[in-house]
Amino acid sequence: MNNMGRKRKTALFCAVILLVCSLAVQPGDAVYGKKKKPALSKKSVLVKIGKTAKIKVKNAKGMKITWKRNKKIVTVKKSGRYAAKIKAKHAGTAKVTAVIKKGKKKYRRVCRVIVPTSCKRTPHPSTASPTPKAPTASPTPKAPDNPTTSTSPTVPDTPTTSTGPTVPDKPTDPTNPTASDNPMTSTSPTVSDNPTTSATPKSEKTERITLSENMCMDTAALDGAPVYNADGSVTVTVKNEYGGGGIAFYLREDKKPVDVSAYKALRITVSAKESTPLQISCYADGDNFWSEAPLLGYGSAETDKRVLPYSLNACPSVNAVRVRYNSWNLPAGATATLTIHSIELERDLRDISGAVSDYEPLSELADRYGFKMGTVISSTTVTDSLYNGLMKYHFNSLTAANETKAYSMLDQNASKTAWIDDETSMAKINFTRADEIMEFARDNQIRMRGHVLVWDADMCDWFFRKGYDSSKEYASADIIKKRVQNYIEQVLTHFEEKYPGLIYCWDVVNEAVGDSAGDYAAGDARHVRTMRSGKKNLFYETMGKDYVELSFQYARETIDKLKQKNPNLDTKLYYNDYNTFYAEKRDAICELVKSINTYKSDGRGGYVRLCDGVGMQSYIGGFGQQSGCMNDGDISKVREAIQKYADLGMEVQVTEMAVRNYQSDAETLERHAEFYEKLFRVYMEANAGASKPIKAVCIWGIVDAPDMNESDYSYRMNGPYCGLFNEYLGVKPAFIRVYNLLKNGQ
Ligand code: GLA
Repeated sequence: MNNMGRKRKTALFCAVILLVCSLAVQPGDAVYGKKKKPALSKKSVLVKIGKTAKIKVKNAKGMKITWKRNKKIVTVKKSGRYAAKIKAKHAGTAKVTAVIKKGKKKYRRVCRVIVPTSCKRTPHPSTASPTPKAPTASPTPKAPDNPTTSTSPTVPDTPTTSTGPTVPDKPTDPTNPTASDNPMTSTSPTVSDNPTTSATPKSEKTERITLSENMCMDTAALDGAPVYNADGSVTVTVKNEYGGGGIAFYLREDKKPVDVSAYKALRITVSAKESTPLQISCYADGDNFWSEAPLLGYGSAETDKRVLPYSLNACPSVNAVRVRYNSWNLPAGATATLTIHSIELERDLRDISGAVSDYEPLSELADRYGFKMGTVISSTTVTDSLYNGLMKYHFNSLTAANETKAYSMLDQNASKTAWIDDETSMAKINFTRADEIMEFARDNQIRMRGHVLVWDADMCDWFFRKGYDSSKEYASADIIKKRVQNYIEQVLTHFEEKYPGLIYCWDVVNEAVGDSAGDYAAGDARHVRTMRSGKKNLFYETMGKDYVELSFQYARETIDKLKQKNPNLDTKLYYNDYNTFYAEKRDAICELVKSINTYKSDGRGGYVRLCDGVGMQSYIGGFGQQSGCMNDGDISKVREAIQKYADLGMEVQVTEMAVRNYQSDAETLERHAEFYEKLFRVYMEANAGASKPIKAVCIWGIVDAPDMNESDYSYRMNGPYCGLFNEYLGVKPAFIRVYNLLKNGQ
């Protein structure tokens, strides 16, 4: 049998096996090998000189582990059977590799170690401003006239239209890996064509893989041979056999694996005669189409050319890439013609060394004023070692973007199945993705804000229905109350038992106060939403008008139960909302908080304190740039609102701060920075006395994303240049202003 014949036979055999497996496995599951492979507890770690960090190999029971380092900036010592202790000796970055052996099988797992130089006062020369300026004493720049601002108290600080409430950013669907695994989604920073200097040519940013017969590793289920076009593209016609087929290319002529830690993403440009669903995978040491290949992500080829970007976080070393056509949706025997125009590796030009070496951690400076410095984390950024290097160094509070929200964790299939056996069963929760984030926070000793237990926006409709079945009618108030109570109990208990003390506060209810008449019932001083954007608030509708108070009661009762096991537990319970500084909404929030805290009798003539604090989301546009947003004059509203909440005995946190910005010219960045500074000055002043109501300032968009599409929700929410850091993770004027203010105190 010739080589081609043998290959075809092998492909056919493996394809049949794959088909059998795919019958039992949903798309999106790990089709290849269900057993968990050894993995490191941390893919990257920041260790200060003289300090140590521990890393462990998970899923390695019975395996033999040896540890190696590539540079002498760290020492590595075995610590027990599965762990190692890394000690930082000199500044720089190094790789620590665990070589894991199981019989003849060998795995290598790499952890990147960042050792910052000890803190200096002057910023890195490559960053936005050559010398850190003292806080400006110059007069505030005059904002252009903006008739819709100060007179319009109903303008939301979230990215919705001025009359509408917020919508969530991309809801993460745990069953659909494309929703958040795509590196270019809202919370992920992206590299534009304009790295640190606009002069960097494209060829230095990307490396193109030659799509030639020489570089082709293998094909499967093709109708005819691949056609190599004159422009360097390749066209394949894929038959609908065995669930799909396609083509795989080596990255290098010698077929050896490439360490991809220096690359940020793999970009595939594709088009097809008809809409074609794709599955992109990478091999570590593949030699045929059906070799094991971890999934990079999904995508689709359309008639027009499009670029599909994939993060390489899942594959530390790659020898080939596979573009596989999924034919599940096609009639048997049908074909799809797909052109791969290019496969490129995008270099990672980001560098956090300036941002971490030349500055003290923001969190340590903020601590002097009594508040934490927080930011947002997501399933994408948690595995991005550079990005999370920034989080670890500067921030001491993290909030999951979506992963701990009900719509991300509730599992409809499991809930429905359980209900069929037992009609009293409660909703089932899948904590997998939330746990990944909690593990990161725990391993790096950063505390978490829990976000959020009850939020009507984008809440799963099925949760309110009989049998958790979307086609059935809504269940009774009693049943929904039980479900909400049980959901809150399950979530609080799961995280507290698994990560004791990690979560220091929970947003119990989000955005329950309406913006204008029509959103809430006439005569309700709390303005509790009956509607959002023309849709009924299902919590209000099913549980009744006191659903907010009840939710707080459930949360408090659970915390009290957990306290029996851990008397030191002190999880604070928050009400969180946007537009919290506009008088009408602010006053309604005060009414709501009063109502929550006079809801449950303490049996001694008083009430149980159910709510501890108010979260001010703080999406803030303006500084004269954007109509319908805040101007300088509105800063005083922030100050007044903090005072009003504090007067009610509430703690206050700035929970999702983003100073929206759509322009990157030097003058705009400077004004953006000034506005940031003015807001921080308000927070610091609020905490100048003994009471210190502000407990945390959490910045939602810390890194610019200039490539973000205008249709992206995050674009409207934050703008592409809202960050403290640019897309290469260098500091921006906004960072320097905030830093200097916190450091010098004026
Ligand atoms: C609201 C939510 C956040 C987030 C934003 C959109 O503010 O509280 O969790 O979803 O919308 O980014």
